Amino acid sequence: MSDSALVAAATRVRVHAWAPYSDVQVGAAVLADDGRIFAGVNVENASFSHVCCAERVAVFKAVSEGARRLVACAVVTDHDQPVSPCGACRQVLHEFGPDMRLILATTDGVRRETTLRALLPEPFEARHVLDHRRA
Ligand code: THU
Repeated sequence: MSDSALVAAATRVRVHAWAPYSDVQVGAAVLADDGRIFAGVNVENASFSHVCCAERVAVFKAVSEGARRLVACAVVTDHDQPVSPCGACRQVLHEFGPDMRLILATTDGVRRETTLRALLPEPFEARHVLDHRRA
């Protein structure tokens, strides 16, 4: 699966973003280790605190379909430069793909590649819950 296919999937769904309040339309697509792609958009709400980012929607779709290991995530917006996932999304992405690559892109074709580890060097992890419980 090429990065371009992942970016294309994120770009395709982006038009479905529900962002009447911010007017920031985000498309995201995650690649599972079995080759499947799951795409999501940001979904805003008149009650602002209930917004869900595109990355998390994509992850939740993947997990809902049985994908548990995610290897890459593309994020597409129409900013001048690519934007990176918010802190909450980094944490959620980590749960299912600590070693994932991130392809951050704009609709004009600017692209930047990085890793989740680079953006979230000290995640809160399952062991911090499970080991603590067993102690
Ligand atoms: N947003 C995302 O979808 N992903 C991010 O990583 C950051 C922000 C959305 C949430 C909200 O709908 C809009 O961008 C403005 O914050």
